[in-house]
Amino acid sequence: MRPTIDVSPLASSLAQPALSDQPASSARTTHAAALPAVLFVDQSGQLGGAEFALLQLAGHCTAHSEVVLLSDGPFRMRLEALGARVQVISDARVSGVVRQASVMNCLRVVPGIVRQVRAIAARARQFDVLFLNTQKALVLGALGKPLHRRPVIWYQHDILTREHFGRVQLSIVKWLVRLAVDHVVVNSQASARSLEALTGIAANSVPVVYNGIDAQAFTRVDGSDMSALRERLGLPKDAWLAGLFGRLAPWKGQHIALDALARLPDAHLVLVGAPLFGEDAYAQRLHEQAAALGIADRVHFAGFQDDVPAWMKAMDVILHTSTEPEPFGRVIVEGMAAARPVIAAAAGGVTEIVRHGRNGWLVKPGDAAALAGAIGTLRADPALAGRLAKQALSDARSEFSVERYLQRMTQAIRQAAR
Ligand code: UDP
Ligand code: GLC
Repeated sequence: MRPTIDVSPLASSLAQPALSDQPASSARTTHAAALPAVLFVDQSGQLGGAEFALLQLAGHCTAHSEVVLLSDGPFRMRLEALGARVQVISDARVSGVVRQASVMNCLRVVPGIVRQVRAIAARARQFDVLFLNTQKALVLGALGKPLHRRPVIWYQHDILTREHFGRVQLSIVKWLVRLAVDHVVVNSQASARSLEALTGIAANSVPVVYNGIDAQAFTRVDGSDMSALRERLGLPKDAWLAGLFGRLAPWKGQHIALDALARLPDAHLVLVGAPLFGEDAYAQRLHEQAAALGIADRVHFAGFQDDVPAWMKAMDVILHTSTEPEPFGRVIVEGMAAARPVIAAAAGGVTEIVRHGRNGWLVKPGDAAALAGAIGTLRADPALAGRLAKQALSDARSEFSVERYLQRMTQAIRQAAR
């Protein structure tokens, strides 16, 4: 890897100014106009956080780019609705290689992998830069480097540790990054540290590009009449609502929120999200857990929702409960942009976003008693909750804007193309 992109990492996240002081609108136009032709690759057809980040970027560069997806789904429709050109190069067996990839699994899918590597390389030759947005995209795009010979940039959305990934997968990532990736961009300093531990690439040589959240989308929701908003969403009008947003998956810790709710006699919990990557058994266990705890009437399973701003504005507090270090956590910044107090699990990139007692509340990951205590504290002190929410909104707008995200990312892409 050439660790030399000239984009300074956000050394201390909430203090550092933007790279350029151009106003947002002119930055948009200028950066789009100067962009090289980019082929984006993402493994998923589903809408996870990495895909929302790419949606904004690819939607910004439609004139000169194309997106390759390794599997079809709602993400393709969202990209196309923004005017992006999308090609799906899927292979059922390759898509079936799960996070904990084993040697046997990998061998079985070799022919499919070769086909996909060649197809991506053939497309990449038509572009200036190959931008890989997920780990399977990294593997397939980087393996084809001798065929396409294009500069490769990888947006690392994950914390590369054994808590999250299998040994084989981490080794593959390590060697491909060292040998075939020209530039890595990370979504947090925490992700950068895990990259350093895995590959030896210095964390401070890798640009941190935080995700951007569209605060305007939250402003557009009329939250002044809470009863009307809740009625529209089918939520109880007068209950005290804690909202937990994100795909249902064991490490996202929805079970911790249920345990916390059982300690809070009359609060309600709204779980917004679905099992996107095959975690149906976990979703089923959550229903059983709610029934066993005797709180099923106070837990609302909303499923996947498109209008996250409206759902967030309908809440009294937003929870984040990941039991493993969260690489970034878009839902946290979204809760801040919704001007709601956010309680988050203090690990990974989260501590780069939330300052305890200033713009949110941090709790120990996996600790249901601490979470219940934090919810109780904010519920009992609306003035404190209000102060946190106000600062959170200001920080979300200034530190995690879409403009800043696009500006840093397009700068990284232009430099990769040189
Ligand atoms: N999200 C959504 N609808 C839902 C649940 C989640 O659109 O029902 C979005 C959420 O608003 C956020 C993204 O999914 O933008 C999840 O990203 P995050 O970084 O929090 O977590 P990830 O799933 O990528 O680990
Ligand atoms: C990944 C991470 C999440 C992050 C998102 C966008 O899906 O799990 O923490 O917010 O990417 O970078």
